[in-house]
Amino acid sequence: MEITDNINLLKKYIQPLVFDYTEYPTKAHWDESLQSIDYKEALKDWLSNSDGSNSMFYVHTPFCEQLCYFCLCSKEITKDYQKVKDYLYNVLFKEIDMLVDVFKEIGKKPKFKEIYFGGGSPTYYKKPEFLALKDKMKDLINFENIETWTVEIDPRRVDVDKLKFYHSMGVNRLSFGIQDFNLGVQQEINRIQPPQLVEELLTEEIRSLFPAINFDLLIGLPAQTVETIEETIDHVSRIKPTQLQTMYMHYKPNTRRYMTNMVRNQALPDFYDRRAIFHRARNLLIKSGYKQAGFESYALPNDELSEAMEEKKAYYNSLGTQVGEANNFIAVGSSAHGSFGDYYFQNYYERNLYTDAIKSGDFPIYRGLKLNKEDKLRRDIIKTIRTYFKISFKDYDNQCINSFVDHFENEINLLKQVEQDGLLIMNEDGFELTEIGYHLSPHICEIFDTYNDRDVFNKNIKIEPLNFSQMSVGK
Ligand SMILES: C[S@@+](CC[C@H](N)C(=O)[O-])C[C@H]1O[C@@H](n2cnc3c(N)ncnc32)[C@H](O)[C@@H]1O
Ligand code: SF4
Repeated sequence: MEITDNINLLKKYIQPLVFDYTEYPTKAHWDESLQSIDYKEALKDWLSNSDGSNSMFYVHTPFCEQLCYFCLCSKEITKDYQKVKDYLYNVLFKEIDMLVDVFKEIGKKPKFKEIYFGGGSPTYYKKPEFLALKDKMKDLINFENIETWTVEIDPRRVDVDKLKFYHSMGVNRLSFGIQDFNLGVQQEINRIQPPQLVEELLTEEIRSLFPAINFDLLIGLPAQTVETIEETIDHVSRIKPTQLQTMYMHYKPNTRRYMTNMVRNQALPDFYDRRAIFHRARNLLIKSGYKQAGFESYALPNDELSEAMEEKKAYYNSLGTQVGEANNFIAVGSSAHGSFGDYYFQNYYERNLYTDAIKSGDFPIYRGLKLNKEDKLRRDIIKTIRTYFKISFKDYDNQCINSFVDHFENEINLLKQVEQDGLLIMNEDGFELTEIGYHLSPHICEIFDTYNDRDVFNKNIKIEPLNFSQMSVGK
């Protein structure tokens, strides 16, 4: 039985409170009373107890030239490049200086092996600003140790020359915001970028310069159907990025009012349609040679992400399934969040608060959390479920009181309930998600989330098999 074959089972598990679990505990539970001083202490604590290896430096650029209606990221739409330069030279550079000072005080720096430029649109920077940012980062980073440097690419804002420039700077991974190749969908989301545009960028030479090329696709966009995703995956299979993600689009019109533009002509694909579209994309990608890497990521068999999955080193976080080398990250820029040692910290979203804090010499901390032993154990389990869809109890026994089975007695009882719905198979050694369980894996993760309401699993809805194809939404 597949997810789209059983509409009533889906109905039982529709719950808006389920998260992606890119972080655990989820951001809503981070402490907003934490401040600059706590961030400094946390960095000190982390580096006193570890060598700071496996670290990534994340830089957020909160500007774009044009608004995409689906976008949830923190950004301002502007055509004023002076504003972008002011942010870079007068604020972000100061945040980097402050980090340099703290690491001097501590007498130790993280050993960065990855860099990630996200946004907003890091492609907004012209060459002189990109170069200046790299120079600034030299105060923090030994570039000889950098193994992966990713830049998120808005394909409408680069040309082959700019991509070659990125390569000359040391960038070796490009992550393209594609979302969907169908013209009707692109019109609804206010983002026209035909497949030819991307094909013309990815010349033989560019492919040889960048060993990893990722495409982001979104599931649940307006006008998207099973048929349109077939067209999109057709283009993807021909253009052949080495990695891609098919993320569910989060619709949050209460925080981003412009998102309602997406429903100006028609309703968004509903809970069932979204699953049918996701499911179709997955089947087609696997058929065209991609290997699954966690819940919503894929990679070609010879890509480093597929290798990391085989070696069980891959790691799931807010950037998708990563090769797993750099699981501590220090983040700069408004809204950026870091994760290092036992800590999470996030900067202010609002640029005035972010800027004011830095100008008065403080780190612009909005919230954060120090994870306790139990949080870390649960985070590890949740991330393993999201990446590998199975848990072996013995892998966690030494972190548990007595054993996994004793420690998680309540959770095991809840798992037995979802087992009855066919979401997983459990024996005395562990449990493994079924095909349906894979699609509902956030719901299974939620069993291990002590911060949320568990009533979701106690609903008593009668389940009757019903063939989804009768609803004429999927294949
Ligand atoms: C913020 S964008 C930055 C890249 C670049 N600005 C671009 O659009 O090409 C990074 C990714 O976030 C994802 N994203 C944006 N809004 C989202 C939403 N509402 N739900 C899920 N993912 C979203 C998109 O897939 C996008 O490619
Ligand atoms: S998707 Fe990218 S380009 Fe579009 S508004 Fe968001 S950050 Fe900007």
